[in-house]
Amino acid sequence: MKNISILGSTGSIGTSTLAVVDKFPDRFKVVALAAGNNTELLEKQVRRYRPAVVSLSGEKAAEGLRKRCADLPVRVFSGVEGMIQVAAAESANIVVSSIVGTAGLVPTMAAVRAGKDIALANKEVLVTAGELMMSECAARGVKVFPVDSEHSAIFQCLQAGVRRDVSRLILTASGGPFRGMTGSELSKVTLAQALKHPNWSMGKKITVDSATLMNKGLEVIEAHWLFGMESGRIKVLVHPQSIVHSLVEYQDGSVVAQLGMPDMKGPIAYALSYPERLEGVSPALDLASIATLTFEEPDRERFPCLAYAYEALRAGGSMPAALSAANEVAVKHFLEERIRFIDIPAVIKAVMEAHTPAAVRTVEDALKTDRWARQEAEKAIKTVRREA
Ligand SMILES: NC(=O)c1ccc[n+]([C@@H]2O[C@H](COP(=O)([O-])OP(=O)(O)OC[C@H]3O[C@@H](n4cnc5c(N)ncnc54)[C@H](OP(=O)(O)O)[C@@H]3O)[C@@H](O)[C@H]2O)c1
Repeated sequence: MKNISILGSTGSIGTSTLAVVDKFPDRFKVVALAAGNNTELLEKQVRRYRPAVVSLSGEKAAEGLRKRCADLPVRVFSGVEGMIQVAAAESANIVVSSIVGTAGLVPTMAAVRAGKDIALANKEVLVTAGELMMSECAARGVKVFPVDSEHSAIFQCLQAGVRRDVSRLILTASGGPFRGMTGSELSKVTLAQALKHPNWSMGKKITVDSATLMNKGLEVIEAHWLFGMESGRIKVLVHPQSIVHSLVEYQDGSVVAQLGMPDMKGPIAYALSYPERLEGVSPALDLASIATLTFEEPDRERFPCLAYAYEALRAGGSMPAALSAANEVAVKHFLEERIRFIDIPAVIKAVMEAHTPAAVRTVEDALKTDRWARQEAEKAIKTVRREA
């Protein structure tokens, strides 16, 4: 029996993780859950999974949940402190890090410092403080199991050889809903269109990131830290069917790929049960019915966010944290229909141009850049709104 704590239990990854738990109740037990504002769903989860510790963002909401769950032996916390309680819950063996954005950084670091293994979905954590996080994990013997389907695929493909023989990591990207569009078509796309991902059902922020290709850029940075590979040897390949989840190229010319249906329960279950594989987690792959798998280069000109992420990684230090914070702010404004789709890269570019990268030695260093970049992004948003 593995005891699981979930940061972000009410989200897309959180609920898929609970679906995996439902399928294998004799293997996994939920001991702690953290959510943002969705009190109603968290209460349902508390009643069903009986965790010992839970947390919500706001104290008022937490107080409401305490009253509603007065009949249960659950401790309800709030705020950052609450997330830390969930992350470091004593009986947890593994923590699923699936809060969206930089908000996941402090609790994920708390889980690492408490010596918990991490099933990592939140890519922004490694983008913002990758070096720090990986060195803390190494110092404490904490294992990080990737949940992102591409990184789970790479993790699996790397088991076919030895590290020194790897020549490239190849991350696949669906290309998102706007693949193949011209610049003028992109200037008119709507929020509803951006939220219609062709293959995956996910949270709103990552769905927009997939449409701008920033998601792939964040994944390049994530792969750099997870697998210790320099940016020049991480390639992105557009594969619209999302069946080949990623590939590893070895120096003898062999390429090892991992395939499966686009279903996050597969990589989540593998992160929780590694090295075992659980029976029937995802639907079987029927290649004959899919018939065609295609690949193409990404369009870096129309989707500049991918190039910005490579640039940020090359610049190093706090630049990826600035990129990620600027992106979070821009996406939030796009989700509120205050800026256009094509304004998202413009905001990120402006923030990166204004940023002088500094070393990220502590979580506070990362958060300082995050706060600065958010303010800069708000300024850039005012400019793009004036110009639109
Ligand atoms: N969805 C996928 O298929 C997928 C695949 C690969 C990687 N990821 C990564 O996994 C992470 C989560 O993605 P998602 O799609 O599951 O997002 P999501 O559906 O939007 O869920 C986000 C979760 O984080 C919680 N949350 C948000 N802000 C919070 C805060 N300030 N404090 C505490 N909790 C907070 C939300 O709580 P409430 O809803 O209660 O407010 C929710 O439980 C992202 O980093 C994403 O890039 C996702």
